[in-house]
Amino acid sequence: MPKNNTMTKNPIGVMDSGVGGISVLRHIHALMPHEHLIYFADSAHAPYGNKSQEEIKQRCFAVADFLIAQDVKAIVVACNTATAAAIAEMRAKYDLPIIGMEPAVKPAAAASKNGIIGVLATVGTLKSAQFAALLESYGRNVEVVTQGCIGLVECIERGELDTEHTKQLLAQYCAPLLAEGADTIVLGCTHYPFVSALIAQIVGKSVTIIDTGAAVAKQLQHKLNAQSSVNSSIEPATILFFTNSQHTQSNKVIETLWGQPAAIQRLS
Ligand code: DGL
Repeated sequence: MPKNNTMTKNPIGVMDSGVGGISVLRHIHALMPHEHLIYFADSAHAPYGNKSQEEIKQRCFAVADFLIAQDVKAIVVACNTATAAAIAEMRAKYDLPIIGMEPAVKPAAAASKNGIIGVLATVGTLKSAQFAALLESYGRNVEVVTQGCIGLVECIERGELDTEHTKQLLAQYCAPLLAEGADTIVLGCTHYPFVSALIAQIVGKSVTIIDTGAAVAKQLQHKLNAQSSVNSSIEPATILFFTNSQHTQSNKVIETLWGQPAAIQRLS
C-alpha cells in the first residue's frame, strides 16, 4: 500500500522501457504544469518489445515499486508494450491509479476516410492479447495493416532521430502501410512520436498520423480529478528523471527529447 497516495502535492510517476515515454510526459506537463513528475527510463532493459510477457511484468513491478517508494500518487505506464503485458497485474497488485495506453485504433478508424489504417508498434504489442481485443472492438469495420518496427526503439534510445539508418528503417516500415493504401497511421509506441516528422516526410501530407500522448494526459487528469488529488498549488513543478542507462550519452538524449535541461539521476 503506497503511503500518502491521495496527497495532492505528491508526484505522478511516469514509466517506460526507456526514453519514449518522455513523449507522453511532455503532454502531461503541458496539460498540468503544476504537477510534480517523476519519470523512470528503464533503458538498461530496453527494448521491452522483444521480451517475454513474464519478463516485462517483472520489469514493470520493479519500476512501479521504485516509483511507489517515491510516494507517487498515480502511475502512468507510458508504454504500449508494457501496458499490454502487465497493466492488469499492476492494477491488481497496487492500490493507486494506474493509467496505461494502447494504440489509437479507435480514433484512427474514426478519422480514416478510406477505411484503411496502419499501425506501427513493437512486435510485443502487436502479438498481445490486448491488441487482438482492441482490433476485435474497434477494427472490425476498417482494414488494419500492422507493422512491427524492430530496431526503431534502439535508434531513438541512442538519440538517432534523424540519421540515415533511422530514415531507412522508417521507409522500410512505412512501405507496406502505404502499399495497402492506409490514409491514417497510428504511432503505437511512445518512442515513435520523436520521429513523427520523418514519418510525415515519408508518408506525405495526405496521410494522418495519430499519437496517443495527449489522450493519455487527459485520462490522467480525469483520474486525478475523480480522486480529488489534483495539485492546485501554483508553485512551479519539479520534474525529476531517473535512468538506469549505462550509456554516457543518455543524459543528453533525455534532455534533447524533453526539450530543455533536466534533473537526471542515474541508477546503477
Ligand atoms: N515505448 C514503448 C512502447 O510504447 C517501447 C517498447 C519497447 O521498449 O520495445 O511500446
